[in-house]
Amino acid sequence: MESSPLSKTTIASKTTMESLEKYKDEISGLPRDNGWIPWQPLCLYKGFWLYPYFLQGSLQARDHFEAQPSDVFICSSMKTGSTWLKSLCFSIATRAQFDIDSTTPLRTTLPHECIPFLEYCEYYTAPQGPKTSLFASHLPYTCLPKSIIDSGCKIVYICRDPKDTFVSLWHFLPKIVATMAPGQEDLVVSIEEGFELFCKGLFSYGPYWDHVLGYWKASLERPDKILFFKYEDLKKKTEACVRKLADFLECPFSIDEEKEGAVQKIIKFCSFESLSNLEVNKTGKHVRGDDFVENNIFFRKGKVGDWRNYLSAEMGERLDNIMEEKLSGSGLTFKN
Ligand code: A3P
Repeated sequence: MESSPLSKTTIASKTTMESLEKYKDEISGLPRDNGWIPWQPLCLYKGFWLYPYFLQGSLQARDHFEAQPSDVFICSSMKTGSTWLKSLCFSIATRAQFDIDSTTPLRTTLPHECIPFLEYCEYYTAPQGPKTSLFASHLPYTCLPKSIIDSGCKIVYICRDPKDTFVSLWHFLPKIVATMAPGQEDLVVSIEEGFELFCKGLFSYGPYWDHVLGYWKASLERPDKILFFKYEDLKKKTEACVRKLADFLECPFSIDEEKEGAVQKIIKFCSFESLSNLEVNKTGKHVRGDDFVENNIFFRKGKVGDWRNYLSAEMGERLDNIMEEKLSGSGLTFKN
């Protein structure tokens, strides 16, 4: 894969402070809700609930980011398997450069730090990783910077059963709060309250169904540019999905690579068991400015159907029904 031109140095470092100040007014006029974390309101922007921190980054990207046709965006709502998808894409795209058994940066770097994240204003270099054409974002399709759509660059999207997504997020938020505002994690809502909010669409980057639908419809309209995955399919048909990913990234596996088991090697290395047991992901820290989170919060169980351990059958059915209603007529379903 080609990498983005070196001349495009990170605008973010030059303009972050002035830009963030500039966007304060635009953000302060938006509707707010303090549902999940009392001191962290979600703001309603173009029909989606975003935390101001990510919204500022999104607005800056809207005004400054220039996508290249060769760029590839890994997009997802939160807690749908983006750590896994990033690791797979990175391993596939850089396999000529790094040996998966020894030199891949993923052995010493959190997957999120190998790929620039748009909302952090990391446009041209990831904090730790080498330059590639890969970028990541949680933004809904309709909130992506115009240049991403206009440039014709590619997008890989991952979504997940909403029940598992919700349960994953409900475990994740208190861990973020525990490091960023120690002692306040008890103020994050209970699972019942969180569930009500999720069902109303109030969720970081939510409503979840609109996030999924935006990319689903776009993938039907532009199948050559947008590849749509479900976490559950990636689990069930990993080899087929990895080959599809490699074809989509325009670096298909050669016959020799197939014979040498390159596909299986990548899958094994990127598996939950393997990544979550790497020292960097067990004990490392993901630092952002003055804040940090433990890398291990990105690896919890990595299972399909874990929602059954936390939600009642009635809650599950209720969310399924909401989802089915919202997705009706789209051709997409999360029913087994
Ligand atoms: P659980 O909380 O259900 O375990 P994201 O990466 O988008 O934040 O999504 C997080 C979810 O993906 C978590 O789910 C996490 O455990 C799971 N996950 C992380 N790495 C994974 C991997 N290599 N394979 C499968 N699932 C993984």
